[in-house]
Amino acid sequence: MTDLLALDDVNVYYGPFHALRGNTLTVGEGEIVSLLGGNASGKSTTMKTILGLIKVKSGTVRFEGEDVTRASTRHRIKAGIASVPEARRVFPQMTVDENLLAGAYTRRDRVGITEDLERMRDYFPRLAERRRQEAGTLSGGEQQMLAFARALMSRPKLICMDEPTMGLSPKLVDQVLDEIVRINKELGVAVLFVEQQAELALSIASRGYVLATGEIVLKGTARELLDNPQIQEAYLGKAKKA
Ligand SMILES: Nc1ncnc2c1ncn2[C@@H]1O[C@H](COP(=O)(O)OP(=O)(O)OP(=O)(O)O)[C@@H](O)[C@H]1O
Ligand SMILES: [Mg+2]
Repeated sequence: MTDLLALDDVNVYYGPFHALRGNTLTVGEGEIVSLLGGNASGKSTTMKTILGLIKVKSGTVRFEGEDVTRASTRHRIKAGIASVPEARRVFPQMTVDENLLAGAYTRRDRVGITEDLERMRDYFPRLAERRRQEAGTLSGGEQQMLAFARALMSRPKLICMDEPTMGLSPKLVDQVLDEIVRINKELGVAVLFVEQQAELALSIASRGYVLATGEIVLKGTARELLDNPQIQEAYLGKAKKA
């Protein structure tokens, strides 16, 4: 079976700085995969590379077998890649509904879009109640929900989520993880998500990769990684985000 997403020997630079070092990573159809690593290890850079927001120096990015290494972000979104960026950026001055519709900007099927808007309101009743509220005035947890729902509005096959649980209370963290599992099960959407808390991430992922200074230093099934003492070491002594 072809992988849904496949990065092969990808190198990315910011000027002279070698940010991703020959990284190879796959996500299968309908799979939940976690990307772990401390601060500045290259997690967000990997996400931006998949979305086409950063140029790849060498190596390939494939989606459903198609080489999208040089493809535009718009092309990738149309192909089925969606993202929930770091800090869950919503459009603050737009309403909840406007944010959701913005998520469907590459689509032309108005009937389908309206159906999906309804579906998102069913999935996230809180967003339905607040459909005319400016997104910037939502709580952190609600903004996370909106960023997630907005990503789903493009009918993706893969969602890339960059630290969706950051800054949320433990209860909301559980809720976000539950939502990821639910969307994955019910819609069959594959999820690649960045998380600093390895145990949390691996509780819902089938596999994981660990980044350190731009390199994938460990990979395995969730079980293998949880049992690996290096995982603990990798996170000890590293400053955690507040
Ligand atoms: N636009 C840029 N120009 C130069 N260097 C950059 C740029 N963006 C990121 N970097 C550097 O690349 C490295 C990896 O950054 P990245 O944002 O991918 O880390 P991260 O793993 O997401 O970290 P965090 O957990 O803090 O979000 C860092 O050292 C960062 O300073
Ligand atoms: Mg980051």
